[in-house]
Amino acid sequence: MIASFFKSILLIEVFMVGAEALSMGYYIMSCPFADQTVTDTVNQALRKDPTLAAGLLRLHFHDCFVQGCDASVLIDSTEDNTAEKDSPANLSLRGYEVIDQAKKLIEQQCPGVVSCADIVALAARDAVFWAGGPYYDIPKGRKDGRRSKIEDTINLPSPISNSSDLMKLFWQHGFNARELVALSGAHTLGAARCGNFKQRLSNFDAVNDVDPTLDSSFAKSLSRVCAAGDDAEVPFDRTRNAFDRAYFWALQSGMGVLASDQTLFSDPQTRRVVNGYAMNDAMFFFDFQQAVTKMGLLDVKEGNQGEVRADCRRVN
Ligand code: HEM
Repeated sequence: MIASFFKSILLIEVFMVGAEALSMGYYIMSCPFADQTVTDTVNQALRKDPTLAAGLLRLHFHDCFVQGCDASVLIDSTEDNTAEKDSPANLSLRGYEVIDQAKKLIEQQCPGVVSCADIVALAARDAVFWAGGPYYDIPKGRKDGRRSKIEDTINLPSPISNSSDLMKLFWQHGFNARELVALSGAHTLGAARCGNFKQRLSNFDAVNDVDPTLDSSFAKSLSRVCAAGDDAEVPFDRTRNAFDRAYFWALQSGMGVLASDQTLFSDPQTRRVVNGYAMNDAMFFFDFQQAVTKMGLLDVKEGNQGEVRADCRRVN
């Protein structure tokens, strides 16, 4: 109770101090249909390809953890700059066309008003809801950044991290262990490619051939899929397009796909949270919505710290 009180205070503080100029009704006068246009565009895209919900949520995470939520992840590389999106950690990001389409429609209504960073945050919100997750309103008014450099992606977490590495990295961004687990719950959507977890399947360490935290028959089925190569995909849980608790059930059964997923069940501090979410989706949804809203406020740029890009793939 006391912990959640302090958490709320913290969230309010982050909102007020970190993002003075952001507000829920930021575009109410200047572009009243912006929010709805993003929702319609996302829904239309997801009807065609439901797997893009995962892509849109991941795009928001990879945007916010590198240079803050400023759409730096959308910028294309140029002759003299290799941008974030060309980093190995970002090569499998998906959903860029959905953002482009929403931006195009919004520019027709109100040119130069709505930032790409806000569109990314709104699209992630809509993707979560479309997949059956919680609906949450988010403050808007982020400006787009002018910097996107491959070397900055060093701030993204590695899939072979253990829980203390993850806790440290997330703590540096202002998140506690509970929020780390809630945000990792995003892996209730989508899939991972074998290149990101194959080290768990053979020559694991000096003692074990296979990662001992992996369920043995699940390890065999992963090996069968991965015989097809590093790009073969395995869903994080048995409902890859549904935002639900199945990811946490997978962790409880030793069926977390990435080492960075399963480690959340190995560490007693995070295991308690995993078990809580596995039992109670209302609790997971509530915490996820709080944590992802907070993530959406990371190092946001305001006023002339940024710009509203005309084309999300290029600085003005
Ligand atoms: C805790 C640290 C995290 C690590 C180490 C991590 C790592 C990864 C990796 C390696 C993949 C698979 C990429 C591929 O094989 O193509 C992935 C996918 C994904 N990640 Fe994370 N991630 C983390 C946290 C998050 C967070 C906080 C979110 C969002 C809030 C997120 C959202 C996603 C989604 C939705 C996918 C599936 C993408 C798709 O199917 O297209 N991840 N992540």
